[in-house]
Amino acid sequence: ERHLLGLRQLGKEEIVGILDRAAHWERQTNKVNPVLEGKFVANMFFENSTRTRFSFEVAEKRLGAQVLNFSAAASSVEKGESIYDTVRTLESMGIDAGVIRMKPIGLLAELADKIKVPLINAGDGNNEHPTQALLDLYTMRKTFGEIKGLTVSIIGDILHSRVARSNLWGLHKLGANVKFCAPDNMQAPDLSEYAPYVGLEEALQADVVMALRVQLERHDKGFIRSAEEYREHYGLTVERAAAMQPHAIIMHPAPVNRGVEIDDELVEHEKSKIFTQMSHGVPIRMAVIERALA
Ligand code: CP
Repeated sequence: ERHLLGLRQLGKEEIVGILDRAAHWERQTNKVNPVLEGKFVANMFFENSTRTRFSFEVAEKRLGAQVLNFSAAASSVEKGESIYDTVRTLESMGIDAGVIRMKPIGLLAELADKIKVPLINAGDGNNEHPTQALLDLYTMRKTFGEIKGLTVSIIGDILHSRVARSNLWGLHKLGANVKFCAPDNMQAPDLSEYAPYVGLEEALQADVVMALRVQLERHDKGFIRSAEEYREHYGLTVERAAAMQPHAIIMHPAPVNRGVEIDDELVEHEKSKIFTQMSHGVPIRMAVIERALA
């Protein structure tokens, strides 16, 4: 099984193995280590992306792979071609692995049954975003030495968040406590048996305070009354960050709505790991691509 569909079905040993291998790649001083020379990897993005798409591309190039970048807007998807037919088309041309981001939930498992080359989930609907959670776990492990026993609060739009789901599964496997904090209409009923919903004051007393982006594109109109109101009740403001424990860190998967779920001044605050998370995306994705192909 060389696919990476999500962290829910990945064992603890596999997760730790990927984190350890990412640490190996982070230590390399050579920009290119061509262990995947002669391999072709397609990055298939049916939804927009900056971080995930480019850090996969950097990771693939650093391993010496040939990279094909597919974006739905410039493809025959615009003529109505399905995701399956698109992936099957690239497979028929001889790609060795595919990185895929898309909106439909459940389709990835179907594709993984039918497509012979390894597929890596770069985000599917609100289901999972495993490489984001892996780089988050990596960042926490690097900051605190170990993940076991940490308390991680995830604040915001849990309902629409594949990042929250992948982090929940990964953090539980590595022995962390997860708490959610969200307005009623952003709570995910299917997750309440796995992590408690707490008030903001309690959520701030964690080792890691992870704010999520309010995903305006996934909400119906009127779902969020205003950015100001969201900030007032759930935003990580400068005042609220001052109430965090001295050792605690701020995380956010980005892109950030500055001034909505997190204040502008906190994005590059000394407590913030937001850009560190992004830089860890490269060694994590090197480890994931290598696992798929080596
Ligand atoms: N965090 C993340 O997935 O960002 P992108 O949507 O820009 O890839």
